[in-house]
Amino acid sequence: FEPERLNSKGWDLRNVADLEAIDSARGPFRDDKFEAAPIIAGSSAAKGRKGGKAMFNPANGADRVGTVRNATAKDVAAALDAACEWRSAGVKQRAEILRKASDLYEANYGKFFALLAREAGKTPLDAVGELREAVDFLRYYASQIEARKGVSPRGLFTCISPWNFPLAIFTGQIAAALATGNGVLAKPAEQTPLIAAFAVGLLHEAGVPRQVLQLLPGDGPTVGAALVSDPRIGGVCFTGSTETAQAINRAMAANLDPDAPLIAETGGLNAMIVDSTALPEQAVRDILASAFQSAGQRCSALRVLYLQEDVAPQMLDMLLGAMEELEADDPWNLSTDIGPVIDEDARQTIVSHIEQARGDGRLLKQLEAPKDGTHVGPAVIRVNGIGDLDREIFGPVLHVATYQAWQMGSVIDAVNASGYGLTFGLHSRIDDRVEHVTSRVRAGNIYINRNQIGAVVGSQPFGGEGLSGTGPKAGGPHYLDRFLLKSSHSESV
Ligand code: SER
Repeated sequence: FEPERLNSKGWDLRNVADLEAIDSARGPFRDDKFEAAPIIAGSSAAKGRKGGKAMFNPANGADRVGTVRNATAKDVAAALDAACEWRSAGVKQRAEILRKASDLYEANYGKFFALLAREAGKTPLDAVGELREAVDFLRYYASQIEARKGVSPRGLFTCISPWNFPLAIFTGQIAAALATGNGVLAKPAEQTPLIAAFAVGLLHEAGVPRQVLQLLPGDGPTVGAALVSDPRIGGVCFTGSTETAQAINRAMAANLDPDAPLIAETGGLNAMIVDSTALPEQAVRDILASAFQSAGQRCSALRVLYLQEDVAPQMLDMLLGAMEELEADDPWNLSTDIGPVIDEDARQTIVSHIEQARGDGRLLKQLEAPKDGTHVGPAVIRVNGIGDLDREIFGPVLHVATYQAWQMGSVIDAVNASGYGLTFGLHSRIDDRVEHVTSRVRAGNIYINRNQIGAVVGSQPFGGEGLSGTGPKAGGPHYLDRFLLKSSHSESV
């Protein structure tokens, strides 16, 4: 008996046949040049336009991945005029089209894996996770909408997505808005328009009408600002920095219907506590994954590790030793664990943080990384506690503090006082402690005796509280409610 599988089966990177399949499927796209341009219903104006901005591989500045022609203010106005809700289809048909898109996504895995490596610096492990999550969102929201009755869309949604999940979050936002019958104006991150353009092409191929889903690559001032302040917009879905979410909130308050929701997933200053009862080998493995996978460029990533003082020296030795096993290299290589950070601006911000710690004598270790591209060697920095950090460092940097058993309460107070509340990890074998800590920590996703990244759609709804986001959690049963009019979701089952 095989229960119905909702989640994507994905690819198993421990399996040679899967590795070979990935390698041969992405091979033809190793040197391809991709293109992105505004996709506006009934208009080919943007297509014919010459020029555009060249996009380069963050791991290798000599690899030109393609060209993007960004949307102008005129393009945005034309897209808003052409946009409409998905009235032509009922719930069943919308769900079928989203499922068809999920199959097309899987069928095109070679091209996606090539693009994810070359445009976003994603390692094979990250690329597999990203494609699976995108597929999961499409299938999950299709099933979620089929289970509701009498739903009514809000109208038009602006979806503004981040570069760190250029396929999964880009698709998740759009899939939720489309499943609920809304029209979508999608603005991908400036760093990753090529992946977005390919994904939108597949969604159209699956049957999503062009007026219902339009793509507007471009910058915040030209595209984003216009899309969050036009009164025709019925809601905004945003993932990115807390500051940008606050600016969007202000623009919406000044211009949109007061009922229009902002669904925002933002930053975090995520902590993990490892007490003296933790299993060291397991804790070390989970710390490394939480801090360094995806080059630390996950909003869920571990930023501040608290080690109980009795075990801290031993644990730290193991951790710094195990770090040596990590390979920071070109994300195209199947053996690479850590790819580059997204661009030169990001690299400089992270490097200056590490250099400051080196100067202060707080840098415990930094691994070598390739000198070309925007690689940053993963680093471990000693801190007194989370209060030493005034912002999220979005890269492969782990901060480590120690605490004594009697200080556990003040550690939790300090974590809560950061104002963020996204992920939190605890390694402990004491049941009462697990219960006590999890009831006091304010965080959207709490992980016990495991790593704290990679929430799975449908089983681990993902989202934070406080400065980390508005909710509802993506990939969970309440997410679609915010995309629907209240009168209808009160009727929903
Ligand atoms: N959803 C991702 C994770 O859980 C973060 O954005 O890692």
